[in-house]
Amino acid sequence: MSLVVDAVAHRYDGDFVLEDVSLQIAPGSTVAITGPSGSGKTTLLSIIGGLLDPTRGTVTIDGRPVKALSLSTTFSWVFQTTNLLLRRSVRDNVALGRLQYGDRRAMADTAAVVALGAVGLKDQVDRPAYSLSGGEAQRVGIARAVASGAPWILADEPTGQLDRRTSDETADLLIDARRSDQGVVIATHDLAMARRCDLRLRIENGRVTEDR
Ligand SMILES: Nc1ncnc2c1ncn2[C@@H]1O[C@H](COP(=O)(O)OP(=O)(O)O)[C@@H](O)[C@H]1O
Ligand SMILES: [Mg+2]
Repeated sequence: MSLVVDAVAHRYDGDFVLEDVSLQIAPGSTVAITGPSGSGKTTLLSIIGGLLDPTRGTVTIDGRPVKALSLSTTFSWVFQTTNLLLRRSVRDNVALGRLQYGDRRAMADTAAVVALGAVGLKDQVDRPAYSLSGGEAQRVGIARAVASGAPWILADEPTGQLDRRTSDETADLLIDARRSDQGVVIATHDLAMARRCDLRLRIENGRVTEDR
């Protein structure tokens, strides 16, 4: 499912944040979107994920407009501050990402434990989410995105609040999602993470250029 952004422009209050953005992302590949604060990274991710309608232009996946797709099963999001259900266990937080597909509870739990193993939290599945450190919570968020099986993961500054070592570990996990054939689009300031992606795009002055 190739994701295609075609001639997208977006305006807030009369000002164009995105002027003319076109890009194509192959299924299962990882793409970093870098750019200064306020350059439109979150806006672009929101348009890609169908949360925001562009002023002009289109986003399609395999030729179908994103708005015609089921957003919750096509995209899984990872944010800078992971939104976990704090009183629920680590396992529940990840399993809930699968229940929306109609998985039975036991299957969802199994998928959750597998994904949590991959992020190094196999022995922590019963902990309540409120007891996690920032890095652990972010790993749970990534496990949730990977376990969801959504073909596209959209990550908005996922390592923004993490220290260097935890950022690197988090980046590894996110980039590993490629192995499960999930495409990953990451808005980030983290150049070390960007370098590990298949493609690096930079937004500046409303346009996207390819960074080599
Ligand atoms: N809902 C909104 N209403 C008006 N302006 C907005 C809104 N969201 C973002 N902007 C403006 O759009 C620009 C790009 O924002 P954003 O996409 O959040 O950038 P980035 O994620 O790269 O920091 C900023 O100037 C921001 O103030
Ligand atoms: Mg942003």
